[in-house]
Amino acid sequence: MSDILVHTEAGVCTLTFNRPDKKNSITAAMYAALADAIEAAASDPAVRCVVFQGNETTFSAGNDIGDFLNNPPASEDSPVFRFLRAVAQFPKPLLAAVCGPAVGIGTTLLFHCDLVYAGDNAAFSMPFVNLGLCPEAASSLLVPQMLGYHRAAEALLLGEPFMAEAALEVGLVNRVLPPMEAAGYAQAVARKLAAKPLSALMETKRLMKKGQIQQVMSTIAEEGASFGRMLREPAAREAFGAFMARRKPDFSQL
Ligand code: COA
Repeated sequence: MSDILVHTEAGVCTLTFNRPDKKNSITAAMYAALADAIEAAASDPAVRCVVFQGNETTFSAGNDIGDFLNNPPASEDSPVFRFLRAVAQFPKPLLAAVCGPAVGIGTTLLFHCDLVYAGDNAAFSMPFVNLGLCPEAASSLLVPQMLGYHRAAEALLLGEPFMAEAALEVGLVNRVLPPMEAAGYAQAVARKLAAKPLSALMETKRLMKKGQIQQVMSTIAEEGASFGRMLREPAAREAFGAFMARRKPDFSQL
């Protein structure tokens, strides 16, 4: 079965991370499938909104570390960057149901979603610095905006996880639910949106986002250039090698 499931029903396109044995970490092939699905959903009149989900124990462990190590994104056209641009510019409502770990892109993706429902087991983290990397998905812009600078520094410089209730408090999630109920709740809200006039939804979203869409896109590009360079540098090599070897990284010389 595919690592990304795409299912459209009653105007709702659901994209499911389906790689549970690797904690739904995302390979380049999965980014390509996601980018294709999002681009198709944007232009398909039968799709009125999109829902991202994992399962009741895991949303996503972020980038697949082995895949990134062996196969770093080579250009702006790499699947990961294509996916980020498609999500940031997606014109229809985007929702997410998040349970368990949401690491790296598993969290930064949510800053582009319009509505987020979390299981009470959700744990959000952006450990880019711990991996010798920098933020992506315009998170260096959007995280300080939503969390305030000092809480953003805690999340992005220390890379420590924060739980569903803290995410609710800062406004990253709309509602916290028992994990068994999060996906069903997101689907019910998506169906409600799908019954509304699409032109009104799209124009409302465009107006809410228009003030900073250009800044978001230029930040994605600038972060992407740094991220791509840093992936090849010694700190990331050490962090990724340590993860694969299940040892603590040693940054003392870096
Ligand atoms: N890339 C590749 N493989 C990953 C992965 C990732 N980001 N996250 C988890 N996996 C794999 C593990 O290597 C392990 O594989 P194995 O069974 O073949 O050894 C499997 O998924 C289960 O992971 P494990 O760490 O044992 O699960 P856990 O429940 O103890 O912890 C996480 C879950 C998500 C907290 C932990 O896996 C983790 O921190 N992953 C790395 C997250 C990360 O740094 N992502 C990159 C962001 S840019």
